[in-house]
Amino acid sequence: MSTPDAAPVALIVHAHPEPQSFSTAQMVTAAQALREAGYRVDILDLYAEKWSPILDRHEFGPLEGHFKPQAEQMRAVKDGTLDAAVRDHLDRLLAADLLVLSFPLWWFSLPAILKGWIDRVFVMGGVFGGDHGTFGDGALVGKRAMLLLTTGGVSESFQTGGTLGPLNDFLFHIHRGMLEFVGFQVLDPVVTHAPVRMTAQARAAALEAVGRSVGRAARDGRPVTR
Ligand SMILES: Cc1cc2nc3c(=O)[nH]c(=O)nc-3n(C[C@H](O)[C@H](O)[C@H](O)COP(=O)(O)O)c2cc1C
Repeated sequence: MSTPDAAPVALIVHAHPEPQSFSTAQMVTAAQALREAGYRVDILDLYAEKWSPILDRHEFGPLEGHFKPQAEQMRAVKDGTLDAAVRDHLDRLLAADLLVLSFPLWWFSLPAILKGWIDRVFVMGGVFGGDHGTFGDGALVGKRAMLLLTTGGVSESFQTGGTLGPLNDFLFHIHRGMLEFVGFQVLDPVVTHAPVRMTAQARAAALEAVGRSVGRAARDGRPVTR
């Protein structure tokens, strides 16, 4: 966490397998906008670092019998035996004032690699449970989080009555079930619809819009609208 006279920290957790994708360009633009808004930016590029999204018994050392994931997370936090990669990412999460999850919308949700990041790093005993509660008592109270995403569907599809429906309705499980659950105040998401259909000119304009939206959100972001 930043001290009063130090720059606030933004952690961007990015999940796209292609460095030349719009999502990756959008993430780079967002990082620059956050720097210009006075943040120190930390980036976790999950595909680039070949992050394993699989939460299983092996990360908790030799275990016999019934594996209870959250009980093992609690124990590992208490004993200081968390997996080194998880500990590193958890420390970076705890040090951040603003968390940005950057991803393409896959099946109305997060790509599996990012869902697995939540499974493994939103550790019971570390960000909720143990000394912490949930929601208003979560470990990340006082911090903000936002989603930065792309969609395949065009914006009209996401209107009320559109073929897909309002985006915030099905981002609810991320906003409420993951981010608010551990204490974050969630800001409105920054979304680019259907970048694959864009001309080079439209793509450049969309990236500029992303920079402006992220800068605005960082300065005076509003709680997510429901
Ligand atoms: C596995 C998979 C699932 C997808 N599911 C959705 C979806 O539920 N809704 C949607 O609008 N687009 C969906 N898409 C399309 C992507 O969201 C779209 O291609 C991406 O956001 C475009 O950004 P990019 O060029 O940076 O990848 C899906 C794509 C893949 C590969």
